[in-house]
Amino acid sequence: MRNFIGTLAAALPLAAAAPYGLNSRDSPAGCSSKSFGDFAWAISNFNYHASYVFSTPAHQIDSGTVGFNLTNTALSETVACTAYSLQLQDYFYGNINYNCTAAEGSSTSTTFSYSRPSGQLNINQTWTCDDEDPQYPITFTAYGTVNLTFPCDTWTYQNPDWQPGQTYSILDITCGSPFTLPLVPYEKTAIA
Ligand SMILES: *[C@@H]1O[C@H](CO)[C@@H](O)[C@H](O)[C@H]1NC(C)=O
Ligand SMILES: *[C@@H]1O[C@H](CO)[C@@H](O)[C@H](O)[C@H]1NC(C)=O
Ligand SMILES: *[C@@H]1O[C@H](CO)[C@@H](O)[C@H](O)[C@H]1NC(C)=O
Ligand SMILES: *[C@@H]1O[C@H](CO)[C@@H](O)[C@H](O)[C@H]1NC(C)=O
Repeated sequence: MRNFIGTLAAALPLAAAAPYGLNSRDSPAGCSSKSFGDFAWAISNFNYHASYVFSTPAHQIDSGTVGFNLTNTALSETVACTAYSLQLQDYFYGNINYNCTAAEGSSTSTTFSYSRPSGQLNINQTWTCDDEDPQYPITFTAYGTVNLTFPCDTWTYQNPDWQPGQTYSILDITCGSPFTLPLVPYEKTAIA
């Protein structure tokens, strides 16, 4: 809640007579007050997958993916966050900000970074509410961080009698959780 400009709501004109602008996004009723209030995101379907495949004893084909859904509870909007990496050994080191994908026409802009070694997930999101006065939409930006630990399944395969053209070995790691976790931003700003 640091740097939260909470006085803006009181300064906004309350007249409801203003016609809807062409750019009206019709955010749901309560969007602004929920965003100013005890706002939290919901993180769901978090999954991490690492694959280490040796096609020959000397040739490795690897990739890592991470993905989750992020729901903005003020907007009732879910964005899909996924990333793909070839950076061995853990693929995700928290040094790259990836974009999440929102539905067409969405007012949101969402980025995340993830570190597999520490489990740290960082989220930045910007969204707009126009439910209080469509002529004066309010744009919120919030920052969140959480260290996630999830159970993992490891699967290995070693070809006992490798011949050229066959797969030599596979190491496959899948981690994730079907549960939904709340994430309260550590910082939020609002601009009207
Ligand atoms: C949420 O995640 C699931 C599986 O990861 C995906 O199929 C679905 O499209 C996502 N939903 C949204 C709204 O992005
Ligand atoms: C995210 O989107 C921005 C703006 O479209 C783009 O400049 C940036 O390269 C994207 N980041 C990644 C990791 O793709
Ligand atoms: C979030 O924004 C801050 C400040 O602009 C930036 O330092 C950080 O890299 C961003 N993180 C993500 C995940 O986009
Ligand atoms: C999360 O992990 C990072 C990196 O290891 C650490 O610096 C930070 O203190 C941790 N945060 C929490 C809330 O445990």
